[in-house]
Amino acid sequence: KNRGELRIHESLEELRTDLADYVAELSEASVKERGVFAVALSGGSLIGLLGKLCEAPYNKTVDWSKWYIFWADERVVAKNHVDSNYKLAKDGLLSKVPVVPSHVHSINDSVSAEEAADDYEFVIRQLVRTRVISVSEINDCPKFDLILLGLGPDGHVASLFPNHSALNEREEWVTFITDSPKPPPERITFTLPVINSASNVAVVVTGESKAESVYFAIDDVGPDCPLIPARMVEPATGKLVWFLDKLAASKLEES
Ligand code: 6PG
Repeated sequence: KNRGELRIHESLEELRTDLADYVAELSEASVKERGVFAVALSGGSLIGLLGKLCEAPYNKTVDWSKWYIFWADERVVAKNHVDSNYKLAKDGLLSKVPVVPSHVHSINDSVSAEEAADDYEFVIRQLVRTRVISVSEINDCPKFDLILLGLGPDGHVASLFPNHSALNEREEWVTFITDSPKPPPERITFTLPVINSASNVAVVVTGESKAESVYFAIDDVGPDCPLIPARMVEPATGKLVWFLDKLAASKLEES
């Protein structure tokens, strides 16, 4: 089973540089090929680790006007709430680079979780129709140029938590949950079919608390391996890359 490319870094500084290079290269390739770059962000430590994109040379070399920005998951809170993934990305990244405000597709914060999920899927459908987002040849799913994910110590990615029924969703592109084990409880999330249809998926993981989940997500653990959500990230035709620091990689057999 191909579990993707491993990029294990000695230091956070090195990881941050490699991650910025990776995103900048994918952005350039996608703009060259399609004229746009459709990228989905997550919350958590990821945004801080993307920080180099706001600095030289990336802040100047990246074609920010071609970026269309989405969220792989969002907490159902006001956009100015400390728990908002939109706010995190805006404060940490988007306000520091010249993205086009109308290309920033944040999730509606003034309706119920269910409505927000439906609205988001509708927006994505429109943008697939106009090919701002590509479409998968296999299943008509949106094919994001890049989906960036973090990993929780319990093995969750986006807001797909272990043993949660949202993991079984095959029809919807965006779903909602009201019982997240990690607060806040109400969340909107991409489903596995969308994550696994992307051209590129990067999972960015640092710290010892994630080492066991990284092991269960990547290694050949055998038949008793718990099927954590991160292990279900398996792009059908796209490329999967793991950005890990030494600590997160410390339980991997080959490292
Ligand atoms: C969220 C995130 C979530 C996050 C992981 C890892 O909204 O909670 O999108 O999926 O990426 O929980 O978060 P940390 O990197 O902060 O541990």
